[in-house]
Amino acid sequence: MCGIVGYIGAKDARSIILEGLKNLEYRGYDSAGIALKNANDIKIYKDKGRIKHLCEITDFTFDTNLGIGHTRWATHGIVNYDNSHPHISNNKRFVLVHNGVIENYKKIKYDYLSDYNFYSQTDSEVIVNLIEFYSKKMCTESAIRKVVSKLEGSYALLIMDKENLDTIYCIKNKTPLLLGLSNDGITIASDIIAFPKDVNKYFSFDDQRIAIIKNNDVKLMDYMGFEIDINYKDISLDTYNVSKGDYEHYMLKEIEEQPTVLRRIITNYFNYDDCVIDKKIIDAILDSDKINFVACGTSLYASFMGKYFFEKLCGIPTECFVASELVYSNPLMTKKPIFIFVSQSGETLDCITVMKKYKAQNYKLITLTNNTASTMANLSDYLLDICANPEISVASTKSYVASIAIMSVLAKAVSNKKTNLKNNLNRVSIVIDQIIADLKPVIKNMAKSIKDSKAVFYIGRGIDYWVGLEAALKLKEISYIHTDAYSSGELKHGTIALIEKGTPVIAICTQEGTNSIVRSNLAEAEARGAKGYIISLESLSYSEDDIIIPNVAHYLSPLVSQVVCQMLAYYVALYRGNDIDKPKNLAKSVTVE
Ligand code: AGP
Repeated sequence: MCGIVGYIGAKDARSIILEGLKNLEYRGYDSAGIALKNANDIKIYKDKGRIKHLCEITDFTFDTNLGIGHTRWATHGIVNYDNSHPHISNNKRFVLVHNGVIENYKKIKYDYLSDYNFYSQTDSEVIVNLIEFYSKKMCTESAIRKVVSKLEGSYALLIMDKENLDTIYCIKNKTPLLLGLSNDGITIASDIIAFPKDVNKYFSFDDQRIAIIKNNDVKLMDYMGFEIDINYKDISLDTYNVSKGDYEHYMLKEIEEQPTVLRRIITNYFNYDDCVIDKKIIDAILDSDKINFVACGTSLYASFMGKYFFEKLCGIPTECFVASELVYSNPLMTKKPIFIFVSQSGETLDCITVMKKYKAQNYKLITLTNNTASTMANLSDYLLDICANPEISVASTKSYVASIAIMSVLAKAVSNKKTNLKNNLNRVSIVIDQIIADLKPVIKNMAKSIKDSKAVFYIGRGIDYWVGLEAALKLKEISYIHTDAYSSGELKHGTIALIEKGTPVIAICTQEGTNSIVRSNLAEAEARGAKGYIISLESLSYSEDDIIIPNVAHYLSPLVSQVVCQMLAYYVALYRGNDIDKPKNLAKSVTVE
């Protein structure tokens, strides 16, 4: 969603901020803006549209060593110039960029700012004017502390003050914010990948923190004004590996990286055939009477395989919860549950809210994430890195495969059973390489034949149904074709009414016990006009199947069948001419409720 970058130092702030904003483009946005110190003044450039446009309208002719920038994903107010950030206070003294949502902004407006003019429909403009309101009676630092005592909601804020033009004020509550140090300056950003490459140390703000950055100095404090020590961490080189290389889209690059991701997981999580997992994590799971997975979107669909592994291998009852549902419901808990949160970004607000809720009840929390510097990583008792390296395309691909692989490793470690997991994961990485090398032409043909459809359905049972759910999400989010997945037995209970002549119905057949029945269900749909397709595993295939995947262990089949579905979604979207890496209306990390 929205992205923030600020810089203060010896280099050109404008280039560092614009470059950082470019690296945040993947999060999804509709407008962009930048505020730059120019001698004793602040210059603002902003508009709806892409960073490329922002670069065109920004003045590059003056020297500037301090500034703040923003990409906006609209929540309050339409996409236009006025609603874009930065926002400026009425007396033009304060300039601010904001990520997040202020829930009580209307009340603040009514209670304190009735004499103020508002030029946007945003909640953010209220904050900048509230700072101005208090600054008339006190110093900026005190005004900021006063303001945060009034705000309800989530916010990461960077503020410039025309009367303190050597300073950036940063505030963080519930929305990610990180500060990075390089030899020549300090960068503040909502994601590590927005840092310039020479940042070597960073820290991630806890909630309810204010930092005042003046020249090369950082003062961190809580909302009461008490100073807090900063513990900087090192940054690994992999963090910055976000180039598209020769690929036209990040999505295809990330699909094709999956064998490498699996090999990295094998290297990091195996010692010969033994799984290398912190004993404390194993003991915590063994000490629980139920595992609750919590996640959203792709990570949720990956969690269904976690349930499968833990129940099958370890005999521990396991349930998967949609994070946004758990925010507002209180399902009955067992005596000793443990929670496993799964999130590529580690910044999904619904997950964070649920984490805080259960942390307050003293339950143990494990996080599987691709971002070990994230809010979720910081909130959890135990952390497992899914080792996928940065995922830029809004449509998740490699994080699905990586999360499932880690879940299989974790379940094996907890079960302490002898299995052939390492060899089987190795085999999966080889088969994904084969899919990429050999199956592209058939996948492309299938994509051509469904690209103009009004609706597409995936069907399967058990594991294949869960794969279908993720495959349908992938296809709908980047092709904009209405796609759904059904347990194939459910078709006759209603959905079959939607089948028209030529409606594509794609059956996934990778499981012995359900292979024949899913095929029969597909035949029923075909009898009513559907155009049926079958994606099968070689050992269960018929020669006329549309896509036949080389064999892997059946319990790992989602790691290969999903790759086929990811490629299918990619090519359908490509043939429809869509913006694949940044699909409309979507953001990479969902940091609002
Ligand atoms: C996946 O393609 C989606 N764009 C989305 O569903 C995503 O998986 C979801 O928002 C969860 O994100 P997370 O894994 O970063 O928590």
